[in-house]
Formats: sequence, C-alpha cells, structure tokens
Amino acid sequence: MPFDTELTRRLGIKIPVVQGGMQYVGYAELAAAVSNAGGLGILTALTQPTPDDLRKEIQRTRNMTKNPFGVNITLLPSLQPPDYGAYAQVVIDEGIKIVETAGNSPGPVISKLRKAGIIVLHKCTTIRHAQSAIKLGVDFLSIDGFECAGHVGESDITNFILLSKARQTLKVPFIASGGFADGQGLAAALCLGAEGINMGTRFMCTVEAPIHQKIKEEIVKAQETDTALVMRRWTNTTRLYRNKVTDAVVKIERESKTGEFAEIAPFVSGKRGRQVFTNGDPDYGVWTAGQVIGLIHDIPTCDVLVKRIEKEAEETLTSKLKLAKAKL
Ligand SMILES: Cc1cc2nc3c(=O)[nH]c(=O)nc-3n(C[C@H](O)[C@H](O)[C@H](O)COP(=O)(O)O)c2cc1C
Repeated sequence: MPFDTELTRRLGIKIPVVQGGMQYVGYAELAAAVSNAGGLGILTALTQPTPDDLRKEIQRTRNMTKNPFGVNITLLPSLQPPDYGAYAQVVIDEGIKIVETAGNSPGPVISKLRKAGIIVLHKCTTIRHAQSAIKLGVDFLSIDGFECAGHVGESDITNFILLSKARQTLKVPFIASGGFADGQGLAAALCLGAEGINMGTRFMCTVEAPIHQKIKEEIVKAQETDTALVMRRWTNTTRLYRNKVTDAVVKIERESKTGEFAEIAPFVSGKRGRQVFTNGDPDYGVWTAGQVIGLIHDIPTCDVLVKRIEKEAEETLTSKLKLAKAKL
C-alpha cells in the first residue's frame, strides 16, 4: 500500500521520508541515493564553500537522480555570515523546487524562495517559532523534538508533546523530525498527525553517506545515552556525539568563571569535527548525532533503509488495526 500524504503529493515523492540537511554529510551521493529510494534527499548548501560550488553540486546530483531532491539553507548566528541570498539565488536559478530552511531570522531567505514558487519546509523546535514561520508563508513545518541531532533549541520539549501540540495548534502541514530510524517511528508520527518524517543520524549510517566507515561503525555501537548537550550557557544548545572533546567542553562550560565563549570556541569549531568524517577518529573533534543513535544497528543502503521503513510502517499500522478489530 503506497503512502499518500500531503508530503508525498506536494513533493512528488513515493515514501514520506525526508533526509534532513547535514553539514559535511549532505553531498550529492547521499541526497541522490535517498531520492532514488523514493524519499526526499537534501543537499546542504553551506557544506559547499561558495554559491558556485553549490551550483555544481546541484548539477552533480541531477546526474545521479531523476527524482525530486531539495537543498537545506541553515541560518546560524555568525560574526561573518555567509551570503545566504547568493546561495538562495543559485537554488532558484538551478530550478530547485524544494528547500529546507532552519535557524535564525529566516524571513528574507524564505520570502525570496517563496516568490520564486519554491516549496519551503521550515525546521523548528518550538510551536512559537513554527507560528512565526507560518506568517512567513512556509508550506510545511518540520517539527524537531529535543531528541534530535544538532540545534535542539532551549525549550527541551520532546516529540511526544511537540507533535501533538503541532497537530492541535498549527494550520499548516508538518513532518516529524528527531528520533526516527524505522517504520514503527513513521507509523507513530503519522498517527500523531505528521505527514511524514525527517531523519538525520539514521541516514549518516548508510552505505552512501560520504563519511568514514569507522564513524558509521561507531554509530552502530553507540547507545541512546551517548550524546551530549553543549553550549546551553550561550543559548545555542547543541546535541553532539559524546566523546572526549564534548566531555572537555561540558567541563569548561560548567566550571568557567568568565563564561567567555572563546574558552570553548577551539573545541567546537567545525574544522576538527569535519575531519572526523574523513579520518574516522570519533574523538578527533565534535560531531553531531541524535539520541536515535541507540536505535541504529546496521549500515544499509538508502534503498534498503527507505523501503524497509515503508514496509515496517505499513505492517505496523495494519497489524494494530487488525488487533483493534479482533477485540470488537
Ligand atoms: C551530522 C549532522 C549534521 C547536521 N547538520 C545540519 C545542518 O547543517 N542544518 C540543519 O538544518 N540541520 C542539520 N542537522 C539536523 C538534521 O537535519 C535533522 O534535523 C536531525 O538530524 C533530526 O534528528 P535525528 O538525527 O534524530 O534524525 C544535522 C544532523 C546531523 C546528524
């Protein structure tokens, strides 16, 4: 039974599973593999050093898939912000139809994309931010629970509450993000009112994810307790894989008398974290992962994973329905 949700219809995909933007992971190989499997693959704009590199990456992805794929544009606080407008312009010029936005003050970028007729999925961790994004005219919300990898926000609301609250209050369709790895999760998300799911960490641990095999093996070994929250002191709370570097950051964060960000800056700089993905040493720097890491036990291709999720979700929903009928 193919899934037919607002997400599959509007995006023109077969299976309501989105691969969220991932810095230094969301390259053409992964995005194309997810889209070829029937989900929505997403390139991460800022993984490309310049807007022109993004253009080349979009063209590279087009050579690998005929199916729809999207681009993530993440707006983070920075002393020298990237030229978001130029990245958005490349997306428009290249005829991309779907963009995932995330981060702070997305208004100007969202309005530029909307004017060009692009479907915008905005990812956020609170209902308040979702409502602001609705005012900006987004087409879908991606509701990111506290379980998620990366920027968890400051409210600490997990998906059981957040998704039901979204269903009760939002007038715009939404997908569920954070903590999903299997079809049972997809079935649960649909029951809670979502039109599909978004996954990050699970897709890092696939054959096509362009990261070192040792990091994928580390993910398979990890438990749900193996993540750490850092940077709460600077209201930029981020969930990372727990390792020697995050332990050092947490210690400084807890004990620093000055509270100067500069004290932890060298530890959390993306530079060493990025190298983790190429040198395979999980303790070399900080890298992002969600609590769902404890539910990941293999390294499948995206095709096997996405189709397995579809099958498990279908079996879960039909078997529960049979159970309910049997009890009547
Ligand atoms: C390695 C990694 C890098 C990420 N980088 C970004 C990013 O640059 N922009 C963004 O919006 N989300 C980013 N995310 C978050 C994912 O898009 C997604 O929202 C999140 O992983 C969902 O939680 P999950 O890991 O439990 O599936 C990243 C996640 C991971 C695992």
